[in-house]
Amino acid sequence: MLKVKQASKIYEGKIAYRALSDIDLTIESGEFVGIMGPSGSGKTTLLNMIATIDEPTTGEILIAGHNPHHLSKNDLAKFRRRELGFVFQDFNLLHTLTVEENIVLPLTLDGKKVSEMKQKANEIAKKLGITDIMKKRTYEISGGQAQRAAVARAMIHTPKLLLADEPTGNLDSKASKDVMEMLESINQTDQTTMMLVTHDPQAASYCNRVVFIRDGRFYSEIHRSDNRQVFFQKIIDTLSLLGGNANDLSSIRV
Ligand SMILES: Nc1ncnc2c1ncn2[C@@H]1O[C@H](COP(=O)(O)OP(=O)(O)OP(=O)(O)O)[C@@H](O)[C@H]1O
Ligand SMILES: [Mg+2]
Repeated sequence: MLKVKQASKIYEGKIAYRALSDIDLTIESGEFVGIMGPSGSGKTTLLNMIATIDEPTTGEILIAGHNPHHLSKNDLAKFRRRELGFVFQDFNLLHTLTVEENIVLPLTLDGKKVSEMKQKANEIAKKLGITDIMKKRTYEISGGQAQRAAVARAMIHTPKLLLADEPTGNLDSKASKDVMEMLESINQTDQTTMMLVTHDPQAASYCNRVVFIRDGRFYSEIHRSDNRQVFFQKIIDTLSLLGGNANDLSSIRV
């Protein structure tokens, strides 16, 4: 589904900064992969390159066999809209719209029929437990509800690849658990491939595999066996080996 080949990123500026070096990463179709690493290690940089928001300086990224960076501007926009789904830490919902309007936004851009959009929105709202808040504006709902609405919006066009950057970063542990359980269930039922950047070991423990990066380089990866609690402990252990600043551990919830 996703292949990152020897990708490096250098941010040009007064002083050029190498944010990623020779990253190789393959994600199979239907996999749920977490990316962890200390602050500044290059996680968002990696995600943005895969999200086609940014381009690698060297190396290549293939999504379902295609290199999106080779597409024209128009085709790239279409590709992003149809094949990818995004969830961000700050939800990125539009405040003047209702939850429902936010959720159907990707379909609106693609010119789908209103009746079709409503039906899809209702299906997904049911699945995510947000049917009751569909008519509310985004400032009238809680953080956890907003994050679920953001996931609904990211999933409404059934993307092949869902990319999430700290989707639980602004949530308390209960809401965070709800969002992760939801992502896990979507991953299992729809076989959506998912990549999640997170500082939160509890959130990462829902993944099938966690890849650790440090100073822009691959550090190690661990796989989940059956038990999430055991995996959680393995993640904590790897993080403590990995180091990083104390801040990074602030979001640990046991
Ligand atoms: N647009 C940019 N221009 C220059 N340097 C940048 C830019 N974006 C990020 N960097 C640098 O690249 C490095 C990696 O940043 P990145 O945002 O990928 O880290 P991260 O792992 O996501 O960190 P965090 O956990 O704090 O979100 C950092 O040292 C950062 O300062
Ligand atoms: Mg980041």
